[in-house]
Amino acid sequence: MKNRFSKELILTIAILQFVTPIKLSQQYSEGENFSITDRHKIPDDNISYMFYKSAQDANEAKNKLQNVLRNFVEIVQKNLTTSVILKSFYNELHVERSQQKFQKLSDHTEFFKIVSHDLKEFSLKSEIFLQTSKNESNAFLMKLRRIPTRQRTLSSHDKLQLTNYFAEMEFFNIMLFEIIDEGLEYITNALNIIRMIFDKYTDIQQQNLQYQNFIFDNWCYNRYFEFLQKWSIQIYTCATNSRLEAVYNVFAMTEIAIKHIIRQQEFKVQRIFNCFLFPGCNIKCNFLRYAENDFQELFTIVQDLQTYYDIQINRGRVKSRRIERSEEILHLNDLEVIDSTEQCIPYGFPENYMLSNLKLCFNIY
Ligand SMILES: *[C@@H]1O[C@H](CO)[C@@H](O)[C@H](O)[C@H]1NC(C)=O
Ligand SMILES: *[C@@H]1O[C@H](CO)[C@@H](O)[C@H](O)[C@H]1NC(C)=O
Ligand SMILES: *[C@@H]1O[C@H](CO)[C@@H](O)[C@H](O)[C@H]1NC(C)=O
Ligand SMILES: *[C@@H]1O[C@H](CO)[C@@H](O)[C@H](O)[C@H]1NC(C)=O
Repeated sequence: MKNRFSKELILTIAILQFVTPIKLSQQYSEGENFSITDRHKIPDDNISYMFYKSAQDANEAKNKLQNVLRNFVEIVQKNLTTSVILKSFYNELHVERSQQKFQKLSDHTEFFKIVSHDLKEFSLKSEIFLQTSKNESNAFLMKLRRIPTRQRTLSSHDKLQLTNYFAEMEFFNIMLFEIIDEGLEYITNALNIIRMIFDKYTDIQQQNLQYQNFIFDNWCYNRYFEFLQKWSIQIYTCATNSRLEAVYNVFAMTEIAIKHIIRQQEFKVQRIFNCFLFPGCNIKCNFLRYAENDFQELFTIVQDLQTYYDIQINRGRVKSRRIERSEEILHLNDLEVIDSTEQCIPYGFPENYMLSNLKLCFNIY
């Protein structure tokens, strides 16, 4: 494990070194276009409300999903019980009891529909949060173009420093966007796989309920309850297993890293604005001369996040994924969805997995 860990780091550093010379050789002519703003009209240099809101929405969607799935196994066992005590407790007419059981089956089917919807919501809100993060980071970069200052023009020295700083931040954004995309791809893909499995299972349950040859007697209900209880737990476990936990972890870690990074960018931009608003404090603005050093901490965070992804997500899967991101990957994801669905809901389910006495209830011979 340790060996692999260090290999990932070396790889990340190698990528960094590979990209760096390209950056330096680029001409940042657009950097010349830094405009100056009246100091009374300082552009809003704060983190937007949208950013915090999108993070909050994603967290709420995550909590909702976690709540729905809480104690799943216990609830299924309770909902689909065939216990003798309950049978004698409900001393109603046969028809009423059947209706009640039918209702329980509908509720159970409905449950998977709700989960599917909540999975979609979490996926969507995560995506909005991560896209908003990219926009936010980019907005801070763009703010560097409009420097509030008392001077009427920027000296060429200042311009050069700003250009370098802008280039460094731009380069940082490229690395940041790349890792955000990787996290996003993983989260949405994993949630999608779970959703596909649940959707398929919902369809199967619905078909069973609507199956015209189903014999609605109490004995058959109980056999079918037993069957569903076993398979719901099995399919649920197969679909979510370590996958959902990894998604929660990746999301949480990404959120922490991004929030820190965006706050640091806010701080950096405000600090630069102050340098030009109060030109007296030149020593404090030394950081402008060492843009690379100034971004070192943020680069380290991105690298650490990458290492975390490599361990959580890829778990020894092909490392080159990120580099050759393309339609090929999308194709690979599609295969992964089909693969996982078939793994959790085996071919020939449910007929081939029913005991012969349950088959009789469905008039299957
Ligand atoms: C920079 O300013 C020049 C002259 O105003 C303009 O032609 C050029 O398109 C600008 N570049 C960018 C990247 O805005
Ligand atoms: C921006 O943030 C600073 C503190 O970082 C706060 O004092 C100021 O009120 C904020 N401005 C806006 C427009 O939210
Ligand atoms: C259990 O039954 C309740 C009440 O019918 C229903 O709201 C809930 O979704 C069911 N949960 C599961 C996991 O079937
Ligand atoms: C990000 O910015 C782009 C371009 O300005 C915009 O089209 C998109 O809607 C924004 N995305 C979010 C999630 O705010």
